[in-house]
Amino acid sequence: MDASLYRQHVQYVLQQLEQIWDSCGIDKLVLHSGCHHYYFGDDQYAPFRTNPNFAYLVPISGPGHCLVIRPGEQPKLIWYSPDDYWYEPTKLVESYWQNEFEMICVSKADDVPKHVGEVGKAAFVGEDVAFAETCGFAAAQVNPDSVVTGLHWIRSYKSDYEIYCIEQANDIAAKAHYAARQVFENHGSELDIHHAYVQAAGGIDAELPYESIVALNQKGSFLHYVNKRRNVSGDVLLLDSGATYAGYASDITRTWAASSVDEGFRAMLRDFNALELALCDAVKPDVSFVDLHVQAHQLIGELLANYQILNVSGHEAFDRGLTRVFFPHGLGHFLGIQVHDVAGRQENISGGAKAPPAEYPFLRTTRILEPTMVVTIEPGVYFIDSLLRPERSGANARAFNWERIDAWRGYGGMRIEDDVLVTDGGHRNLTRPYHPE
Ligand code: GLY
Ligand code: MN
Repeated sequence: MDASLYRQHVQYVLQQLEQIWDSCGIDKLVLHSGCHHYYFGDDQYAPFRTNPNFAYLVPISGPGHCLVIRPGEQPKLIWYSPDDYWYEPTKLVESYWQNEFEMICVSKADDVPKHVGEVGKAAFVGEDVAFAETCGFAAAQVNPDSVVTGLHWIRSYKSDYEIYCIEQANDIAAKAHYAARQVFENHGSELDIHHAYVQAAGGIDAELPYESIVALNQKGSFLHYVNKRRNVSGDVLLLDSGATYAGYASDITRTWAASSVDEGFRAMLRDFNALELALCDAVKPDVSFVDLHVQAHQLIGELLANYQILNVSGHEAFDRGLTRVFFPHGLGHFLGIQVHDVAGRQENISGGAKAPPAEYPFLRTTRILEPTMVVTIEPGVYFIDSLLRPERSGANARAFNWERIDAWRGYGGMRIEDDVLVTDGGHRNLTRPYHPE
């Protein structure tokens, strides 16, 4: 890691925080890394996920750490490392990021609050409310809306360091996608494909930014299919899987069809890839993400007409809302520390929400695009039984080519997804340099 890139990131974030001190009436921000979540009735806990607002500044995962930020001062990192013999505490090995903080290592939990210090005009952001109380924070000082929305707004514009991390996460995920595809082509099961993916990504499942979607054939029609079937191979693979780098996510989807698949479906998949790239090309400053989503529906209408899935023109398919049966999710979302990153619908630094149009309730991003935002572009076309069923006898039934739909519904569907940075002059695709296909 280039230490100066990270230093610039920290400086950039501190500068951005100038926007919230006075407006939120605070003079100290305490970001807490988080705590473990125990399963119900159990002494086992779920894989740990760091508070993303802490991860924004500190690229190391683990519970119980505190970052204390005051305007104009070097941030103080209270590193909690208990003297434990059940679990090995995270070792603090010298690394590029530590130079940006006043480092305080604490081995007793009771000592952390005194290092947090006065909380008179401070805000606490984190999930460990009991710890915040121990420090003396009043309820109104814990996760105040104005501070959280301020942080989220700032996080929607990425620094060069963050863009670099997302690119690295794309590099890792792209390699893993290729490894997984090879297993698919060798008739592996969903579980085999998943194992190949995780191994090539060089980690464990819990380090992936979200549970991988490894869907063979008809299972691709479940948008968030997360089962991993054993002993079943297939001839269409929809693989939606990312990776993390220094806490930042990538989110890539590819759909592959074997030569045994109907040539018409395979041709449609090739055209669909071109359609996805055309939508990536439309990413640029001042474009509304809602308009891009509408454009996706128009292009999908044409595709459905061209491949005789619908008996009407692309225009008519769009006008009558028929594309929504095949493409029921949003075109994409912000990407960063969280795979569905924050502030996709936020109106301004103080909060507010710009709801999506009523006909597209699942659209996660309604913002006007600006340089340094990172979005995913992920159109899809699926044969979803539960959405098609009512259409078979509905008012639009004759607009659907049921023969073709029934011939292809076993293929599940297709989704292709890239991560795209908005630049001053347009955009930069962060996925295709690593996964050109
Ligand atoms: N990668 C899954 C999703 O974006 O919902
Ligand atoms: Mn996605």
